[in-house]
Amino acid sequence: MKKLLVTGGAGFIGANFVHYWMAKYSADKVVVLDALTYAGNIANLDSVKDDANFNFVHGNICDQALIETLLVEHSIDTLVHFAAESHVDRSITGPDAFIETNIIGTYSLLKSAKKVWLDGKSILEGHRFHHVSTDEVYGTLSPTDPAFTESTAYAPNSPYSASKAASDHLVRAYHHTYGLNVTTSNCSNNYGPFHFPEKLIPLVITNILHDKALPIYGDGQQIRDWLYVEDHAYGIDLVLQNGRVGENYNIGGDNEWTNIDIVKTISKLVEQEFLKNKDLATRFPAAKAAMAQNTESLISYVKDRLGHDRRYAIDATKTINELSYKPKESFETGIAKTVAWYLNNEAWWQSVMDGSYQNWIAEQYS
Ligand code: NAD
Ligand code: TYD
Repeated sequence: MKKLLVTGGAGFIGANFVHYWMAKYSADKVVVLDALTYAGNIANLDSVKDDANFNFVHGNICDQALIETLLVEHSIDTLVHFAAESHVDRSITGPDAFIETNIIGTYSLLKSAKKVWLDGKSILEGHRFHHVSTDEVYGTLSPTDPAFTESTAYAPNSPYSASKAASDHLVRAYHHTYGLNVTTSNCSNNYGPFHFPEKLIPLVITNILHDKALPIYGDGQQIRDWLYVEDHAYGIDLVLQNGRVGENYNIGGDNEWTNIDIVKTISKLVEQEFLKNKDLATRFPAAKAAMAQNTESLISYVKDRLGHDRRYAIDATKTINELSYKPKESFETGIAKTVAWYLNNEAWWQSVMDGSYQNWIAEQYS
């Protein structure tokens, strides 16, 4: 039985990981620590909030005293670190929060874990610090370059990826210098339920439903390698169970798509859903108008992102060979599930859009 501290567990991937873990390992204890920034949403944890093995703590990963208390009071043996500022566009307009949370915050967690697990009276032998990172640390690829492996040199290009690269290096250093039991996973672009609608896939789905333009940066020929979020949770599970301490593992979906093809695929899927289910036209009257003219007409080419990486692609051979990792979803099955989730969970994304998803914070402190 494990006792997990999950940082950033109210965010997109963290919440999906918590759902996955608690369904599979129902006897394990899970403590979520989350600052509930704009990207955190307490409603993402509604399905587990009443479970006796679940605890939510509203707090910041930069708060070392809090982290130490949580590690000791909950006898945590496994720390899974998702908390981060995660949106590249925000890192371009305002990098400060990325440096603070992604670098200083990770450092604070490492320091606290070292203090409690290694410098305490009795060293916690079975401890694990798992750091969740990104393929963006490897930089960008041309269309013909081989995909990123774990030995690809780091070459981050955005303030976001530079801050994640710095945190990866700190995690590595805490293993080599102090003997902290760390693992790191670097994964490709995730998609699925609870994805904040500023990222490409949920933005496109929700914009179609509002008959709003679908912004394509630059020529739309940039390539991302898409991973269904549950397959990511499964990959982290394998790393936690059987990954070698001190190692990095790439997790990918083997699904390279250009941005423009993603947007066209989503447009077609939404159209198909409207044809199958007449109720949707009543629920989303704005989209009904868009459907009448073909949703692809909403596509709007806009100014490119500064320093926009051209292509990401993951070679997950090491994770496949060592840990028998195999993603369950193809892009076709995963994106169909995702579109269906957004059509069925309007209340979730409406509360994000109207801001009411953050009422919980005000209620706690009023
Ligand atoms: P997200 O932005 O949806 O969620 C981040 C969560 O962290 C939020 O709940 C937020 O409230 C919390 N948080 C932010 N700053 C905090 C702080 N200082 N203290 C405590 N909590 C804080 O991010 P995500 O998409 O779920 O990504 C999770 C992790 O996975 C990140 O480390 C990210 O770098 C990595 N990653 C994401 C992707 C992707 O496609 N989304 C791909 C590769 C790697
Ligand atoms: P995003 O979802 O922000 O993830 P990341 O930047 O981490 O890859 O963007 C995915 C791709 O989609 C990226 O190449 C930028 C592009 N994009 C658009 O073309 N338009 C948009 O409105 C957004 C948000 C992204």
